[in-house]
Amino acid sequence: MNRCRKKFAKPSFRLAGYGTRFLPVTKAIPKEMIPIVDKPVIQYIVEEALQSGIEEILIITGHGKRAIEDHFDTNIDLELQLRQQGKTRLLRMVQDISSINVHYIRQKHMRGLGDAIRCAESFIDNEPFAVLLGDDIVYEPERPALRQMIEAFSEVGSTLLGCQEVPLDQVSRYGIVHGLPTKDERIVRLIDMIEKPSVDEAPSRLAALGRYILTPDIFEILRRVQPGKGGEIQLTDALRLMADREGVYAYTFTGTSYDAGNKLGFLKATVEYALRRDDLGHDFKAYLNDLLKG
Ligand code: G1P
Repeated sequence: MNRCRKKFAKPSFRLAGYGTRFLPVTKAIPKEMIPIVDKPVIQYIVEEALQSGIEEILIITGHGKRAIEDHFDTNIDLELQLRQQGKTRLLRMVQDISSINVHYIRQKHMRGLGDAIRCAESFIDNEPFAVLLGDDIVYEPERPALRQMIEAFSEVGSTLLGCQEVPLDQVSRYGIVHGLPTKDERIVRLIDMIEKPSVDEAPSRLAALGRYILTPDIFEILRRVQPGKGGEIQLTDALRLMADREGVYAYTFTGTSYDAGNKLGFLKATVEYALRRDDLGHDFKAYLNDLLKG
């Protein structure tokens, strides 16, 4: 287990550019800082990484994302105020956030997910690493999605994508996998993958949902990848090249996934996370019931 923890010590998070879907709020606030109930989206993702045994976190950031660094930084004034007010629970919460070991690298031009991952190369000591995207939240209180993937990686020893089936009318939002079954019903071997296909082009409904464990050979492949869909350096194109020469696997994780980068997904996450809360769930449910009765 120790070896495993060390190996996965360096995940990176990729943050897209300005979130135009959430304007005007994202004019001054990075979309990763929009709260689900009272916690920014990025914190849910960082917590999943920590709960999965990750010890070092690299966030690939960029222009307009400084609020993320402030969020994970120490806030002496706030701590002083909470201490003076005797709000020890809140003080501990704020201190816990700033004690997380987070590093940052700025992506200078928004050239796509593949390019963002390239920015992490100097941080990754030729080891496998995990990538979690800043939009994709997974609720899985028993076994975090990334922990499931780390366990699966120790079986396959090759690059692994975290996937789930999505409804057919949503395939055009994701990288969609064409895979061959393996002995493990949760794992397929990737033979092709299409970035955001139309319904007709989609080889399946198995979508990459923002969780990857990549072996470091991805960097050499990413250097050769030409701009693809949307003129961006696509990780999907690199994974296809990788699958031609070595095993790449897609793992279906358990848990409820939310696309918090999409308004409807964000609203679903907000409602469902609020309903799960001990301090809010009961009253919020009563309110929703009344509202629906109209
Ligand atoms: C990226 C990936 C895509 C993946 C998706 C998951 O797309 O390119 O393959 O399915 O994240 O959220 P994006 O949503 O950043 O355009």
